[in-house]
Amino acid sequence: MKTILNLFVALFIPLIAMSQTQPNYDESKVPALHLPDPFVSEKGKQIRSVEDWEKVRRPEIFRLFESEVYGQLPKDFDAISFEVVKENANPFPEAADLEEVNITVSRNGKSHTLRINFFLPKFQKGPFPVILLINYLPTYPDGKLVDEAFWPVRELIQRGFATASFHAETVAPDDAKTFQNGIISTLYPEQIEKKDGLKAFGAWGWAAMRAMDYFEQHPRIDAKRSVLVGHSRTGKTALWTSANDPRWAITYANESGCGGAALSKRKYGETVEAINNRFPHWFADNFRKYNGKEETLPLDQHLLPGLIAPRAVYYSSARGDQWADPKGEYLGIQLGSRIAAEIYGKKAVFEKSFEELNGPVHHESVGYHIREGKHDLTWEDWRIFLEFVSNNL
Ligand code: GCU
Repeated sequence: MKTILNLFVALFIPLIAMSQTQPNYDESKVPALHLPDPFVSEKGKQIRSVEDWEKVRRPEIFRLFESEVYGQLPKDFDAISFEVVKENANPFPEAADLEEVNITVSRNGKSHTLRINFFLPKFQKGPFPVILLINYLPTYPDGKLVDEAFWPVRELIQRGFATASFHAETVAPDDAKTFQNGIISTLYPEQIEKKDGLKAFGAWGWAAMRAMDYFEQHPRIDAKRSVLVGHSRTGKTALWTSANDPRWAITYANESGCGGAALSKRKYGETVEAINNRFPHWFADNFRKYNGKEETLPLDQHLLPGLIAPRAVYYSSARGDQWADPKGEYLGIQLGSRIAAEIYGKKAVFEKSFEELNGPVHHESVGYHIREGKHDLTWEDWRIFLEFVSNNL
């Protein structure tokens, strides 16, 4: 009896587990989509005007994302101060001024300091438009400030941008066990027990907002012309940040996939269950209710660009990045851009289907491109995105 039981455990349990975790890459197995209508309120009211959108429907959708997906992003604190320090060598002394800025924020008698690395075009006064990249990689060894393959500072400076970045771990480590060892336990401990409490994405977004606080008071920066950029997990972060903070003129999410650009209900590539199991520190605990039950989600990611509209939103995908579901990402912006088009009157209608795409689609305030190759933020992505920026900033 015992042997039979052991045999069953050895053979079937892994099979059952595998059938649950194998990602689907077969378009014919994507379920029929029943997506919530952005233009009908929870009480059934038709939403057509900017006023109804901003007073009724947008707040409903925002609250759903906050409680069911990302968790809260607290905005209050007692004091903020900025200190420019000189710790590392400037990698571009001929082209850029470097400011290594410690941003110290205090709340309820406790404080936390995060660091941004900030480059401004040299020998010019400005004010410059500014691009902030959220970097999820740990701080580089030996004081290296920039990996140009990922953050092309020299190119950005040459094009007249100021540009900054910070490492996510300086606010909340990207680790399920230690992510609270930053602003969460120090500044916002009351968030820890909440089912919709602050998690890593919210914490990284909070840091982007503090960087924006710095830009706003900087005499050489035109903070109204600001761009927030994130790749993959920080692409998801950038979208949620911009939904919370209207100060970003353009928001760019590169290959942000599940929980970012891509529709969850398609269950293609990474699923809600897969992401919550591997990265339990990214999203609100409530998001786990939808593990394996995406059809019961009261929202989907096509509603997210609407929280940013009429400010500009840009998505990009890579054909080799099926885990992030390129078609689901395209549908996210194609459907999501309806708010920019129908509520705010932007020229933002994506006419082509995903299968018909034959180049970047750059509209007024929304854009998309897909490139060949694998999951990465490459110079090709930046170059195409910067064309969109020059028409929308
Ligand atoms: C993993 C994760 C994705 C995430 C990616 C990244 O692949 O499953 O959701 O976007 O890491 O951040 O690179």
